[in-house]
Amino acid sequence: MTEFEVPIVDASLFLDGDSLKRQIFANQLRDSLIQHGFVRVINHGISDDMIEEIFDWSKRFFHLPVDIKSEILHFADGSNPQRGWSSVGSESTAKLFHALKPGTSDKDIKPDIKVTNQSRICMISLYKTNRFQIKEHFDMSGTVDSKYPNKWLAESSISGFRSFMEDFYERCNSVSMLLLEAMEISLNLPAGSFTAKCQQKAHELRLNHYPAVKQERISPEINRVWPHTDLGAITCLFQDTVGGLEIEDRTHRGTFRPIPPGPRGEMIVNISETMQRWSNGMIPAGVHQVTLPPSLENKSVNGNIPNIPERYSIPYFVKADYNASVGPLPQFQQSSAPSAYPDMTGLEFHRRRLAQAY
Ligand SMILES: [Fe+2]
Repeated sequence: MTEFEVPIVDASLFLDGDSLKRQIFANQLRDSLIQHGFVRVINHGISDDMIEEIFDWSKRFFHLPVDIKSEILHFADGSNPQRGWSSVGSESTAKLFHALKPGTSDKDIKPDIKVTNQSRICMISLYKTNRFQIKEHFDMSGTVDSKYPNKWLAESSISGFRSFMEDFYERCNSVSMLLLEAMEISLNLPAGSFTAKCQQKAHELRLNHYPAVKQERISPEINRVWPHTDLGAITCLFQDTVGGLEIEDRTHRGTFRPIPPGPRGEMIVNISETMQRWSNGMIPAGVHQVTLPPSLENKSVNGNIPNIPERYSIPYFVKADYNASVGPLPQFQQSSAPSAYPDMTGLEFHRRRLAQAY
């Protein structure tokens, strides 16, 4: 089997380079995103220190007592954008992904998972809707969002958390605009084709915490995150050193390959459903999951199988404005390829899809 590697692209070419270097970066970004749905970005402008610090804040937040975190519990009515704290098991990406597969009825759905020891290939052909995820998370959006305001704990509970998170959000916003601009250039689209639809800061910054778990608890019913695609235009992700993130290999559908943790500052970017819609399916969203890290699989220490350590990750979901169209752009529609997706606003799309995840 050939080595599977998601390319690394250097954003300093785009930030500091001349027009030729900017074009090189844009093309590399586009090629990897079209081929894999994913790309790894370095030198994007957010310092390693800041990334280290947000992981520290995340640990502090999730290690607060449950009754404190419950003060900002996300009210899961099924469709509102997530704000505040969501407890372990509240979200189901399996349902989210299953909902994209029309014609599959619940009675047809059975787990079908095989994990091979040598190659760490996880084959999943059918998706079960009632799977449980061992994950809690915190969500926030742009500070201008009065329709769905953020939920913050009192400063006395976690002093400095809010100001750091708001600052980090803005930095992620700058990187995401850079990436969307590069996509416009590489696809020969008019300036603003993507970026002008992402100005209202409907993006969401999330802190994920996967508690430590016994290996034997990972089963066809329970996992860290089931296979799914994200809802926004793109997702920018930072992960810690534990591992477990896997993406679908597009040359072997249904086969998942690990994305091992890279250098501290590495940002993993994936195409999400809104970009798939804008491009009329030309740039498909990347399917991914989080499961047992390959380094721990079947490893025993003194005859005991070690627990899977807790894991932290930090995604930034870049989303269309609530009132922006998420239908295919005219440049991706031809008589031979008419619109494959009904037009609707970003908020409508978000609410429809989110209603399927709870
Ligand atoms: Fe995801």
